[in-house]
Amino acid sequence: MFEAYQAWQRRIERQPEEYLWRNRDKYLAPVRQALAEYLGTAPANLAFVPNATTGINIVARSLKLQPGDEVLASNHEYGAIDRTWRFIAAKTGAHYITRELPLPLSTHDDFVETFWGGVTDRTKVICLSHITSPTALIFPVAAICTRARAAGIVTVIDGAHVPGQLELDLEAIGADFYTGNGHKWLGTPRGAAFLYARPEVQSQVEPLVVSWGYQSDHPSGSTFQDYLGWTGTRDLSAYLTMASALEFIADNGWEQVRGRCHRLALKAREQLQALIGEPPLCAQAEEWIAQMFAVLLPAQVNPERLEAELFTRYNIEVAVKRWQGFNLLRVSVPAYTTTEDLERLAEALRELL
Ligand SMILES: Cc1ncc(COP(=O)(O)O)c(C=O)c1O
Repeated sequence: MFEAYQAWQRRIERQPEEYLWRNRDKYLAPVRQALAEYLGTAPANLAFVPNATTGINIVARSLKLQPGDEVLASNHEYGAIDRTWRFIAAKTGAHYITRELPLPLSTHDDFVETFWGGVTDRTKVICLSHITSPTALIFPVAAICTRARAAGIVTVIDGAHVPGQLELDLEAIGADFYTGNGHKWLGTPRGAAFLYARPEVQSQVEPLVVSWGYQSDHPSGSTFQDYLGWTGTRDLSAYLTMASALEFIADNGWEQVRGRCHRLALKAREQLQALIGEPPLCAQAEEWIAQMFAVLLPAQVNPERLEAELFTRYNIEVAVKRWQGFNLLRVSVPAYTTTEDLERLAEALRELL
């Protein structure tokens, strides 16, 4: 993938006029087409963005929130996204509410009911992770989006960890807005992400960075595309490499790879739960977990120290973080992780704890 990325960089450096200005759309169009097919939507509903944070910021800045309006999220959201909504709330007078979801989470159906208990007649926006960052749990976003649509509430789904880890069908999920990264589980270089907006809400999207697409000299008929299509001179190689990443996973039986990693994750989780002895975050792991999982650690653990020791003494990179008063160890199982890697982690934890 890195070679494909560098090949694009070399091509662009040799002919920046050609790739960045004259024929940019010609080069990006097949990538957008491949991505749209992979994500189950039309190319016109997708814009390239450098990362999920930017995707959420574009939407959050575009929505016309009024004082007293409510934005409902969960207490499992990613810190930067949480801060984005707090910033928007401070600017607009809207309230940002993070619904606390008691642990352990039981079933997806229960989740929908508990989360929906936070909806009021002032709720204008729901923002939820599809796979959460601190707790690594799959949230049932399609059920929430269906219910929100019926209630006239805008849905913004943070799928930063989803492309490449879960099968995605954006039309079936039914979100108004959905953002996802290529650079986490799809294997693209960093700086390759997308923002999906369903056709009915695209006209609400404003440019986060105003550039040539505003009052465009060559309007495409879609302000969504015009506003987000060019945000100033930058390296487009990461976007262009997305096609190679999609080809790679298609050629390498990714469904089987994901399945193997999922089973490894479930097994390792069970082993670590038994070793550590703290209560689980969720009951039915099958439903909640893809290729990542998190386990609670004893309260007396110093998360920074444990993370550093795992890395420096054992050469193991896992996230150990403090979250909502808990200590959490989060393990990712990408394609290159082996059973032996996970056994080494268990062995290291046995020694360190
Ligand atoms: C759930 C979630 N949302 C958003 C992000 C932000 O992704 P990025 O830094 O690529 O914008 C992350 C990053 O880890 C994440 O886990």
